[in-house]
Amino acid sequence: MLRLLLLLLLWLPLAQAATPPAAAVASAHPLATAAGHEILAAGGNAFDAAVAVSAALAVVEPYSSGLGGGGFWLLHRARDGHQVMVDGRERAPLAARRDLYLDAAGEVVAGLSMDGALAAAIPGEPAALVHIATHYGRLSRARSLAPAIRLAREGFEVSEHYRRMASFRLEALRASPAAARIFLKQGAVPPLGHRIRQPDLARVLERMARDGNSGFYAGATARALLAGVGAAGGIWSKQDLRDYRVVEREPLRGSYRGMHITTAAPPSSGGVALLQMLNILAGYDWAALTEADRTHLAVEAMRRAYRDRAEFLGDPDFVDVPVTRLVDPAHAARLRAGMDGAQATPSSALAGVAAAPGGNHTTHFSILDRDGNRVAATLSINYPFGSGFMPEGSGVLLNDEMDDFSAKPGVPNAYGLVGAEANAIAPGKRPLSSMTPTFIDGPDGIAILGTPGGSRIITMVLLGVLEFAAGKEPAAWVAQPRFHHQYLPDVLQFEPGALSTAVQDELTLRGHSLQQAQQPWGNMQAVWWDRKGKRVLAASDPRGEGAAEVR
Ligand code: GLY
Repeated sequence: MLRLLLLLLLWLPLAQAATPPAAAVASAHPLATAAGHEILAAGGNAFDAAVAVSAALAVVEPYSSGLGGGGFWLLHRARDGHQVMVDGRERAPLAARRDLYLDAAGEVVAGLSMDGALAAAIPGEPAALVHIATHYGRLSRARSLAPAIRLAREGFEVSEHYRRMASFRLEALRASPAAARIFLKQGAVPPLGHRIRQPDLARVLERMARDGNSGFYAGATARALLAGVGAAGGIWSKQDLRDYRVVEREPLRGSYRGMHITTAAPPSSGGVALLQMLNILAGYDWAALTEADRTHLAVEAMRRAYRDRAEFLGDPDFVDVPVTRLVDPAHAARLRAGMDGAQATPSSALAGVAAAPGGNHTTHFSILDRDGNRVAATLSINYPFGSGFMPEGSGVLLNDEMDDFSAKPGVPNAYGLVGAEANAIAPGKRPLSSMTPTFIDGPDGIAILGTPGGSRIITMVLLGVLEFAAGKEPAAWVAQPRFHHQYLPDVLQFEPGALSTAVQDELTLRGHSLQQAQQPWGNMQAVWWDRKGKRVLAASDPRGEGAAEVR
């Protein structure tokens, strides 16, 4: 009896440490964060909350993600440790061909893969939300989608950020009467405080709540989508919508200085590149280096990982992506051996292919519930406001994710990214992504993080992991000054003020071509369950307008 009591006394503190003392949601919009907490308070788990936050972001951040787009949801189920990446990435329509965006002379037609109906791939987010709710959630779809339905109907207020995004995509939005009616005011960027109401979108969400996938991919929604896309020169078919499926993929796993990293698998390039860079950097005594040394070596690691990205990465259901070889520490050791600690390697000196950059599109959120379930999700409609095209009567703004394919090998896309054969367009194929939702299991606790930002996503997550490894807290991971290199163009980009003059001089002496960006980039959302300290912290990037709340 005494032994049993002792065992119980020993076990109790351990059991407490096995679940977090609070839940946390960090997202790019306060209304989406509130939607997540509403669902947690209603008895939902992190997966129900993820459905609520994704759907709310689709309403209140229409420039970043939406039902007309897709994404990757990285899930960790506490009960059995099950981890999965729900791949709700868009697919190329079945009528798409590799030369879809080329003219008769074989040249890329500017804008064709970015604006209007032809730029849109088949959306995956609706199927992903239904999948997550059905297989991982506790609540009904109707309950988890309720906050988004309410927000779509009641509207949300235009912010400074909304105005910046709408100005940037004004022409594309004006070209689509349905989109202009909702997202503009008399054809102009709406004033601060103007309410954006989306009753058609509310109806689509209600159909999804009632009918699941067929609420979007069949019936009234599908009819409106197909009619609108067809009338505007797009190539979607009934079969495209009927055949869309999410794919459950095994996440990529790696390690860095005793921490376990769980991250995105192809068709994202993010996890492969992240693990490659960490493997390279693990070979240095990081804490002992100067800031100039660390920046130099990180940039050289970025250059090499992005070179491999351009050559090898694509949809694994269509091309053989050599993931095992690329994330093997032996590959990193070979790359490290080619690095000069004192001198930059010109990208032209590495075997040729091309790659590159980022914008303010896409969104990320991180969730931890009180059972220890976790979600890191990065969602996108690609460019701000996607293609700018909304089929009449559908309420669904469509993505321009087709631009993430390489329209022609060697020709850069909207973000300067160049790809090779692996990322060429094919019917039903998923375009290569940079989205990198990530978990870090460290000796003291667990981090959940990710960010939007085009091809800079991967280097931002790298810098976040390095901050975590240096013992910093989430506020530091999301706020830290950022720099980036992506192989081509051969430029070390940095945020205003990110590098001191002394470090800039040192890096220039080492042969780097420095370019200070006009604006900061990224919008990281992070949660940390500090198991040792028995606390939960969360942080939202100060560059954005998001909210991180621990309750
Ligand atoms: N559309 C941005 C990405 O998937 O990387």
